[in-house]
Amino acid sequence: MNIAQKMKREWNQRAQHHAQYWVATENFHDDKEFSKSGEETAQALLSCIQPLADASWTVLEIGCGVGRILKPLCSHFKRLVGIDVSGEMIHQSKNWLKGLNNVETIETSGVDLKSFPDETFNLVYSFVAFQHMPRPVFLRYLEESNRVLKHQGYLLFQIPIGTIRDTAIEDTVTMRQYSTNELADELERCGLESTDHYPVDSELRHHREEVPGRIFHLAKKTGTVLYSNNTDWLESECGETFSLLNTRMYLWFAEQCLQKGQDDEALRTYLALRAQDPRSLEKWIRTVEILVQQGKHEEAQDTLEKLTIAIPIYETLTALLESKNCVRLERMSNG
Ligand SMILES: C[S@@+](CC[C@H](N)C(=O)[O-])C[C@H]1O[C@@H](n2cnc3c(N)ncnc32)[C@H](O)[C@@H]1O
Repeated sequence: MNIAQKMKREWNQRAQHHAQYWVATENFHDDKEFSKSGEETAQALLSCIQPLADASWTVLEIGCGVGRILKPLCSHFKRLVGIDVSGEMIHQSKNWLKGLNNVETIETSGVDLKSFPDETFNLVYSFVAFQHMPRPVFLRYLEESNRVLKHQGYLLFQIPIGTIRDTAIEDTVTMRQYSTNELADELERCGLESTDHYPVDSELRHHREEVPGRIFHLAKKTGTVLYSNNTDWLESECGETFSLLNTRMYLWFAEQCLQKGQDDEALRTYLALRAQDPRSLEKWIRTVEILVQQGKHEEAQDTLEKLTIAIPIYETLTALLESKNCVRLERMSNG
C-alpha cells in the first residue's frame, strides 16, 4: 500500500465512523453547531480575501470534507469546487450541499490536482487539511496550486508554523509543523509570493494575536513552479501501523459517548477501532465492558473468545482478567 492508498483508506474509515467529528472535532455534536462553525471559518477566510476578491471568481478547496466551508461560501463566488481524498467524505458532501447548484465536490487521488487543467481557478484555499498531510503531499499541493491557479490568482491556506515538526510518512493524521524559512523557500520554489498572514479566529484577529496553527497564509501566483524531482515517496510501501493520535481520537470520541449515555455509539466506535487494529487490547476490553453493562452476556463471552484468537497470549489475557476492570466485569456478569 502506498501513501495515496493509505490516506484514502484511513480518511474513508474516519468518514464512515463520524464525518462531522473528524472534520470539526470541537463542533460536531449537531448540524446547527457544525454549520455555525463552517460559517465562522468562511467569514475568517473572506475577511482575508474579500478586499481582493470578485464575485465572478472560480474557487477550489483542497481537502473539503463534507463541504462545511463550501456551503456558506457559495453565495460569494460564481463557482466552487471541493476535492477530497476520501470518497466517503465526498459522498456525504452531496447531501450537505444539496440544492446548491454552483458547487461541485470530487474525489481525487490525494496527491495531485490532475482533474483540473492549468489556470482554472482564481482562488485555491485549504483549512485544517494540509496540516494532516505528509510533508511531500503538502509540498506537491503547493506545486499543483500554482499550476491550476490563473496568473495573479491567490492561494489561501492554514498550516502550523513554528519549530519544524514531522512524523512518519504513513501517519495520515498527526499534525506537521513548518518553519517560517521552510515555508518561504517552498512558496518561492512554487512561484507563489507570500503576501500576508491573518489569525483565523475573530477574537485573535481583533487583538492581532497569533497562535501557530490558527493562521491563514495568503500567497499570490507570480511565477512558474519548479516541480520537485523526488517522487520516490509516491510509490514507496507504507507500514500498516496506525498513529497514536488516530487511536486517541477514536477513544476520546467513545469516552464522550459513554459520558452522554450513548453506549451504542461508543460500542460502534470500539468496533471500528478493533477492526482497524485487532491486536490492541484496550478496545476489546472496553467492548466487553459495555456489552456486560448492557446485559448482553453472550455477546460479551463471544467477544472474549474472539480476543483469545486475535491475541493468543494466554498470560496477557490472564493478567487482564485479574485487572480491576475485568474483576468488575466478572462480578457483573455473574449477577
Ligand atoms: C479535518 S478535515 C477538514 C475538512 C474541511 N477543510 C473543513 O474544514 O470543513 C480534513 C480533510 O482533509 C481530507 N484530506 C486528508 N488528506 C488529504 C489529501 N491528501 N488530499 C485531499 N484531501 C485530504 C480529509 O479526507 C478530510 O476531509
